Amino acid sequence: MSSLKENMTCGVLEPVPLTSPDRMLKLPLTDADILHYITSPSPTETEDLFDCARRTREERFGRKVYFRALIEITNYCKNGCFYCGIRAENRTVDRYRLSLEQILHCCREGDALGYKSFVLQGGDDPFFTDERVVEIIAAIRAEFPAHAISLSLGERERESYERFFVAGANRYLLRHETANEAHYATLHPADMSLSRRKQCLFDLKEIGFQTGAGFMVGSPYQTPATLAEDLRFLAELKPAMIGIGPFIPARGTPFADRSAGGAELTARMVALARILLPDALIPATTAFASIAPQAGGGRERALAAGANVVMPNLSPAFARERYTIYDNKISSGSEAAASLATMRRDIRSWGFEPDMGRGDAPA
Ligand code: 5AD
Repeated sequence: MSSLKENMTCGVLEPVPLTSPDRMLKLPLTDADILHYITSPSPTETEDLFDCARRTREERFGRKVYFRALIEITNYCKNGCFYCGIRAENRTVDRYRLSLEQILHCCREGDALGYKSFVLQGGDDPFFTDERVVEIIAAIRAEFPAHAISLSLGERERESYERFFVAGANRYLLRHETANEAHYATLHPADMSLSRRKQCLFDLKEIGFQTGAGFMVGSPYQTPATLAEDLRFLAELKPAMIGIGPFIPARGTPFADRSAGGAELTARMVALARILLPDALIPATTAFASIAPQAGGGRERALAAGANVVMPNLSPAFARERYTIYDNKISSGSEAAASLATMRRDIRSWGFEPDMGRGDAPA
């Protein structure tokens, strides 16, 4: 431990400890390999998978873990995704929207703490018209010319995305949720389609956004084959960012009584995503932390599987409580400064290097 500390002060970390330095995964992975590693019961093969993911992350990013300030701007949503706690028909949700001033206040707080990257996330809320979103982006951009601005506001027309990009947004997160048509239809109402979701993702990339896709692990009706399709789709889209977290049931939804996705399978999917897309920015998601909450368990697990981003929540406390996309979402409950300090300490103790830079995708 002390040698690790010494090394960190001069910016050099010891090489990643590998469980099996003498065994290597055969790359590139074929479709059959991918399916194999999703399901393999062999502890040796699983160790090799995680070793390979760690080594891949280390080659591209060293031990850096990038910090993004997450601001949940609205929990209104017009959509009816069957898994999501803030779906339109869920009457148990206490709805809120942040004002421009409240959003700017969060950004200022984040900036004062050293964040260089803001993520504005929300339901698909018609109140936030293109004009309003542009006004928000422009106001943040005027005050923070060098910060990264990410949006996660759902499906919009290509022209809307173009306006957001011109106004100064750099990144857009839109999980594809599942790349299998039939599976998509079991998770979403008939007015939503996988083809539209994919079109949005390809549009975002073409416009020039650093684009994020991703999916839940353990969602109802998911199979190893649909998970393999998710990875294949990611390999085709080549997103700059990939969000992977376990499905967690949410009260007031059609899937309230389903069981949550498992930590082991989620970690495997993170590892496979890292190996297939070595340059990707992959967050250790709050959902993962929420199913294994003891002492940051899920976050550590995700980082050990190749993740390299964390997104501490900077929303006001009332918003954090109401942004209930799933049950038992962990929230530090403490002020932004205190939770940042805790997370930085945890990350160092797991052998990683907190980085408050913008953390852009490698060119
Ligand atoms: N469990 C886990 N993740 C969920 N999301 C939505 N509902 C749930 C849930 N019940 C994820 C979706 C969405 C992201 C913002 O949160 O993948 O894209």
